Amino acid sequence: MGITPILTMTELKPVTDATPIKTPMLPDAQTVTAVEHFTDRLFSFRTTRPQSLRFRSGEFVMIGLVGDNGKPLLRAYSIASPSWDDELEFYSIKVQDGPLTSKLQHIQPGDQIILRPKPVGTLVHDALLPGKRIWFFATGTGFAPFASLLRDPETYEQYDEVIITHTCRDVAELEYGRRLVESLPDDPLIGELVGDKLKYYPTTTREQSPKMGRITTLLKDGTVFKDLGIDGINPDTDRAMVCGSMGLNTDLKEILESFGLREGANSDPAEYVVEKAFVG
Ligand code: A2P
Repeated sequence: MGITPILTMTELKPVTDATPIKTPMLPDAQTVTAVEHFTDRLFSFRTTRPQSLRFRSGEFVMIGLVGDNGKPLLRAYSIASPSWDDELEFYSIKVQDGPLTSKLQHIQPGDQIILRPKPVGTLVHDALLPGKRIWFFATGTGFAPFASLLRDPETYEQYDEVIITHTCRDVAELEYGRRLVESLPDDPLIGELVGDKLKYYPTTTREQSPKMGRITTLLKDGTVFKDLGIDGINPDTDRAMVCGSMGLNTDLKEILESFGLREGANSDPAEYVVEKAFVG
């Protein structure tokens, strides 16, 4: 099964005498500008950005390809790039028998994808009440919305301290996030704002690394707080965003609520928000 060649369905080719028949228009096509593979399970890619697309850092859109049946095959993807970026970036898992990602993993610069320009989501600053410290808890590709929020000036304007935790199976799976976090202090746009506010807490569960274990376990036994020199999580000062597997989300909700934080939404901001990472 290859990618259905999308270009043949667009009107992007010049209409000449040799091509008088109107071909169907592929709506919402964007062009891939870069692709990077991190492991056999993870890759990132960048695309052109529709001129009219405005989004809040942390939101997701539906993207995909034309399926074998000629119909759009779309999935929710968090936008990993910040809202000020000219292009869009996405961070994706590769599932070998996944309907979309089995194909999407083969995209190359110049290919087209479908992108519905209707951003939505709860991992946005608007869904949280003001606070002093924000926690971003990610597992796997759940890092994507935080890749956007970590590059958003608002994150550093609104909080004195920003903590990003990322739990993956092995060290190679941390690479996308690690590189992004390490680039931030030198970023010409937000480096100065980031200053020393940002703390990065990567952990692995299936390969030896400086910090082993699920973030949930490390929160429950107090290791995280000890490592970061923090008293604990307090609803008066701490805010949290969670993005990972269903299991992570459920377990972290319980932990955050045990600290007295309440789940917020766009229409009803509170102390934490959760969203499921795209998986498949
Ligand atoms: P584990 O290796 O113990 O399953 P995946 O690659 O399957 O999406 O998982 C990403 C990371 O999330 C893995 O390190 C995995 O740990 C961890 N993880 C999975 N479920 C949970 C959970 N319920 N709470 C905390 N971490 C979890």
